[in-house]
Amino acid sequence: MIKTQGLCHVYQPGSPFEKHAIEDISLHIQKGEFVGIIGHTGSGKSTLIQHFNALEMPTSGKVYVDGVDTSAPKADLRLIRRKVGLVFQYPEHQFMEETVRKDIAFGPSNLRLSQRDIEECVLEAAAMVGLRPELLDKSPFDLSGGEKRRAAIAGVLAMRPGVLVLDEPTAGLDPAGRDELLTRIKEMHENGLTVVLVSHSMEDIAKTAQRIIVLNEGRIAMDGSTAYVFSHADELGAMGLSVPQVSVVMALLRKQGVSIPDAVYTVDQAKRVIIGLYNKAHKE
Ligand SMILES: Nc1ncnc2c1ncn2[C@@H]1O[C@H](COP(=O)(O)OP(=O)(O)OP(=O)(O)O)[C@@H](O)[C@H]1O
Ligand SMILES: [Mg+2]
Repeated sequence: MIKTQGLCHVYQPGSPFEKHAIEDISLHIQKGEFVGIIGHTGSGKSTLIQHFNALEMPTSGKVYVDGVDTSAPKADLRLIRRKVGLVFQYPEHQFMEETVRKDIAFGPSNLRLSQRDIEECVLEAAAMVGLRPELLDKSPFDLSGGEKRRAAIAGVLAMRPGVLVLDEPTAGLDPAGRDELLTRIKEMHENGLTVVLVSHSMEDIAKTAQRIIVLNEGRIAMDGSTAYVFSHADELGAMGLSVPQVSVVMALLRKQGVSIPDAVYTVDQAKRVIIGLYNKAHKE
């Protein structure tokens, strides 16, 4: 679905502010995956994902979306941006219309669709993020924080992308808002959407991603299953990253000789393992 080869991006080349933001990134995101991208602030996460829908172009190297080279002169950038929906950090800062419905309809309205088809896209996207239909006729500015975020994401989903790329989607939300949004994103993935999630929250990543790409100073430092990456707490620590709190507790138990598998990094997984150990101990 998305492939990069030796991708590099330099901001303001040749100026005193020249910055090599990402260097030699080669990765392949397959259809149906849920990939988390983590890395210290300034490690190049946002720069990388903006290449996935051709918002940024490689300084060198290549990006392919569904096999199409995004920097080829004939590449259809509109089509690429429809296929790969990108949700910026704080997307609700970009509301433009007087109702939520019109805001979500903004993208599809530019696609020469009938009014009925546009309405269908809007209702489908609103349902995916769990926005109640009665909110559609409100001003986007009258929604709660969590609703605003979901409405903004619905605007991207209304284009029916095959890949949804989200930059810090839960930033600034309260715990209930975070959980609600993550649950919705997980559901979309279960229904076939390919998802790329950039987050500073290891708990969010642990709850959702199947695979994690770790960026460090613009390069890929690790790329593997969630269990694999979170079992490398020391290496992550050296890059200024943590592991989920549950992983820390499980590592402490392992040090005390308790037999716990690697793949335990969410509260639910830990609960199952601990209840299993308890039951086993009581049988003996
Ligand atoms: N438009 C720009 N011009 C110059 N330098 C930039 C620009 N955008 C980003 N950078 C620099 O490129 C590097 C990578 O930035 P990027 O925003 O991709 O990092 P990030 O991992 O998304 O960080 P954060 O976690 O803070 O969002 C940083 O050193 C940043 O200062
Ligand atoms: Mg960023």
